[in-house]
Amino acid sequence: MKKLVGIEALAIAVPRRYVDIEDLARARGVDPAKYTSGLGAREMAVADPGEDSVALAATATAQLLRSNNVDPSRIGMLVVGTETGVDHSKPVASHVQGLLKLPRAMRVFDTQHACYGGTAGIMAATEWIASGAAAGRSAVVVCSDIARYGLNTAGEPTQGAGSVALLISEQPDLLAIDVGLNGSCSMDVYDFWRPLGRREAVVDGHYSIQCYLDALSGAYRGWRERALAHEVVRWGPSLPGDQLSRILYHVPFCKMARKAHTQLRLCDLEDAPNAPASTAEAREEQAKSAASYEAQVASSLGLNARIGNVYTASLYLALAGLLQGEGEKLAGQRIGLMSYGSGCAAEFFSGVVGEKAAKRMAQAGIESVMAGRERVSIAEYERIMNLPYEAPDQIAPAPGAFRLAEIKDHKRRYVEGA
Ligand code: HMG
Repeated sequence: MKKLVGIEALAIAVPRRYVDIEDLARARGVDPAKYTSGLGAREMAVADPGEDSVALAATATAQLLRSNNVDPSRIGMLVVGTETGVDHSKPVASHVQGLLKLPRAMRVFDTQHACYGGTAGIMAATEWIASGAAAGRSAVVVCSDIARYGLNTAGEPTQGAGSVALLISEQPDLLAIDVGLNGSCSMDVYDFWRPLGRREAVVDGHYSIQCYLDALSGAYRGWRERALAHEVVRWGPSLPGDQLSRILYHVPFCKMARKAHTQLRLCDLEDAPNAPASTAEAREEQAKSAASYEAQVASSLGLNARIGNVYTASLYLALAGLLQGEGEKLAGQRIGLMSYGSGCAAEFFSGVVGEKAAKRMAQAGIESVMAGRERVSIAEYERIMNLPYEAPDQIAPAPGAFRLAEIKDHKRRYVEGA
């Protein structure tokens, strides 16, 4: 029998503070509808320097191991996907290993390619296990990032921060990945980047949306070719993409998922053999189907709308949001996942939701993580954004959470909440 590999469990960590997106719009003199309906945002997580990518990754990983009772000796690989690491050389993953006192006998490294870095780690772990090289061991992959464009920029309402930690194993209670079906598309473009030494990303916003859509088309068509060959989907009365119960997208802002879904449908409508002759305009109109978006995409965006962009973690926040709400209903059904990282790389893959998804998601305790947050004013958000990189707020971390306490002699010291 073919070995099942995929995501066994997950946990999330978010900054303790957030702003309401309508407060931000009003403070910037913008019609709130632009942020809520134009971008699809509701709230935006605000991280102070004490909640860096290490602290968030360690907090999510601790929660993952604790709530699922994972024996650390089971873990043979620890990967952190991040584009907002804290050192040019020392990986975030080695901080996490140390803070959680994990055993030495494991591979520990970071993966970086903008928002695609987390997926790169997940695929490295999945294929390591599927190959048999893991010899029964599991992997932990953590996606952890602080999305920061700066005050008064066009990207400001699309900031956010957080971390999703995933346990990858031969017991994929959340999602068994269809190993070998992935479609990839990469291009050398300057759509979004962060030159060395800068805290804020530089972005060509509208061009970045076009790059995302172009790369999606290539990645989806690559997946579809393999999925058709393996008879996972078929050309028939319904389009191949329609045969996936849900499709999750990388979510830099929620409206992007709608644009992405339209593009994916357009790929199918353009390529359908024996399609009734129709004009490009008719296909575009059909691709925009609100019913298809509501049925396949909308239910995954609840956490993304409340947290904002979390770069590497955004796609996996969508997975968490989907399975938290619909884990039971989707058991045994196939879903699609589309990862995008600027620069750029896209990967489309699929998997089957596990029978124990709802039970595993209940263990993740996401509602209590979200309920522990505090809404702050725009003045407080601006104070936090202006804090120097090495001057975290001196706040005691919540029990089980980690925070950066200080940087001394270029070494970072973290504390754990008791
Ligand atoms: P902008 O230019 O300020 O906004 O920046 P806009 O004028 O394009 O308006 C946005 C939407 O609001 C439009 O809807 C408007 O029509 C609508 P659309 O036409 O696109 O459907 N709108 C309104 N709706 C209702 N009432 C109103 C109103 N006014 C306007 N009154 C932009 C928007 C996203 C470009 C900006 O926020 C930005 O640069 N964000 C950062 C870049 C980004 O998120 N890119 C996404 C693709 S790249 C990616 O996903 C990778 C990334 O995650 C990084 C990585 O890989 O590491 C970013």
